[in-house]
Amino acid sequence: MPRPSGLSPRLAHQPFHRAVASTAWWRHAVIYQVYPRSWSDADGDGHGDLPGIIARMPYLADLGVDALWLSPFYVSPQHDAGYDVADYRDVDPLFGTLADADALIARAHELGLRVLIDLVPNHTSSEHAWFREAVGAPPGSEARARYLFRDGRGPGGARPPNNWRSVFGGEAWSRLDDGQWYLHLFDATQPDLDWTNPQVRAEFEDILRFWLDRGVDGFRVDVAHGLVKAPGLPDWGAEQEMLSPAGEGVETTHPPMWDQEGVHDIYRSWRRVTSNYDLDTTPDTPDAPGAERILVAEAWVDPVERAARYVRPDEMHQAFNFAYLTAAWTASALRAVIVESLRANDAVGAPTTWVLSNHDVVRHATRLGLPGAGEGGRNPHGVGAGDPQPDTALGLIRARAATALMLALPGAAYLYQGEELGLPEHTTLPDDKRQDPTYVRSAHAELGRDGCRIPIPWEPTGPALGFNQTGRLWLPQPASYAALAVDAQRGVEGSTLELYRRLLRLRRDVALGRASLAWLEGYGPDVVALRSESARGPVAILTNLGAQPVGLPEGELLAASGPLDAGPPGTPRLPVDTTAWVALSM
Ligand code: GLC
Repeated sequence: MPRPSGLSPRLAHQPFHRAVASTAWWRHAVIYQVYPRSWSDADGDGHGDLPGIIARMPYLADLGVDALWLSPFYVSPQHDAGYDVADYRDVDPLFGTLADADALIARAHELGLRVLIDLVPNHTSSEHAWFREAVGAPPGSEARARYLFRDGRGPGGARPPNNWRSVFGGEAWSRLDDGQWYLHLFDATQPDLDWTNPQVRAEFEDILRFWLDRGVDGFRVDVAHGLVKAPGLPDWGAEQEMLSPAGEGVETTHPPMWDQEGVHDIYRSWRRVTSNYDLDTTPDTPDAPGAERILVAEAWVDPVERAARYVRPDEMHQAFNFAYLTAAWTASALRAVIVESLRANDAVGAPTTWVLSNHDVVRHATRLGLPGAGEGGRNPHGVGAGDPQPDTALGLIRARAATALMLALPGAAYLYQGEELGLPEHTTLPDDKRQDPTYVRSAHAELGRDGCRIPIPWEPTGPALGFNQTGRLWLPQPASYAALAVDAQRGVEGSTLELYRRLLRLRRDVALGRASLAWLEGYGPDVVALRSESARGPVAILTNLGAQPVGLPEGELLAASGPLDAGPPGTPRLPVDTTAWVALSM
């Protein structure tokens, strides 16, 4: 491999990802997840809302993201924080009105931001008109055929039709008074739809069109790997998690509720629906909002090759890379997941979509400070006062380094609201405040996800820290959030907010999301050392996961996730748990 002149031998590099010659916005976009309940509350009822989001939206444009994804705001009894949808074509009064949704989309587009919304197709709410109709209709009726109703086993059909467990704990079946059972992979108020039924398919294509017509730029597809179940709904012996596991003989041990072949046919037909809207593209401004509408898979499947099947050219556009989110904090684990993810997605011509936090997992500023973060890549289902507490300072240092690495990688990336403030999980939330159905359904064995869903602190003082003006809160904020408020970090050098703003600006300016990637050799096993061949020249990306500071290559320091180690005069070094971006001297 020829070396560019002027580079020291330690900078020899081995390319393993080549940039794709496409300007499609979603291939390199940074998308910010707004969890509407907890972002900004205009009416002061303690729950965030759409008018609150509209009012604060300039903050996102200023942060430097390309789009926002909104978790569900549809009509819902809120048994699973809105992931239990009763009407897919209207807004829940908790969040506002349909007119507010229209105004939100318009405001985002004015600010140059695209808008993705959450589509929940695996199940409806038990209060959806279809399920109410099914409950009132007899076994065998057309109304019941939209869901997965079955007779039970054993004398009188008293035992559930199979042994599946709900992801939230307990049995995955509930029984109606007339004796029939219905399947719910999640809460009993979230009955699973039968996706072999053409009515279900037609209805969701219509829902897609309803929102595409209103101007949304795409959909994050909830539980994308769960819609189709294996014929006959066979028993499943293993412990049930939402992750479809990999391993020896995966074809024969494949869980019958996850990652079935039939889901891909659904996404091919959805791609045809969204592609029709791509025809709106104005040739002169292919990057203008609205140019291409996208589908994003929430598919907890393993290994990364299985996830890449959701983003084949005629299916979805992006799939969250949960392998990166769950990777252990070690250089070898990170190197492996980076190279394997890029290889798997490159093979199907798709971008890799990096993510570290969302509304379902312990925030990465906490996860990376928990004992064992460097070993198993732990992803606990909540942390409570009775659990080992994280090292908050260490978690934040590592979280900043992890984000700085993520934002340097080619492909798309998702941020979860509040991570740009370095917010930790609320790890001492009183148990009587918990709202996640997981907590109850698992008989308190799982604490659930409330700790990552706490309302955002905008101001260091005042009621609800600026989340609203009344001080009402659907979940209490921990004391540590005051010092992390937006207004306490804005313009403050070295703050996490300013770090994110800088990284996002540089990522865009240097076009790191569209770059080719190689390993930078000579850094030893404890450093993730990358060379990004950006359109503006080579950039070294270094994350030090060892025990000692390491030297930086010659060049201009563009960004660092934390202070550098002074080292010998003129040669600052990269401390442990720190990431740096260095524009290499040619
Ligand atoms: C997805 C959502 C999660 C929800 C579940 C059921 O995993 O992200 O919040 O509880 O689906 O809809």
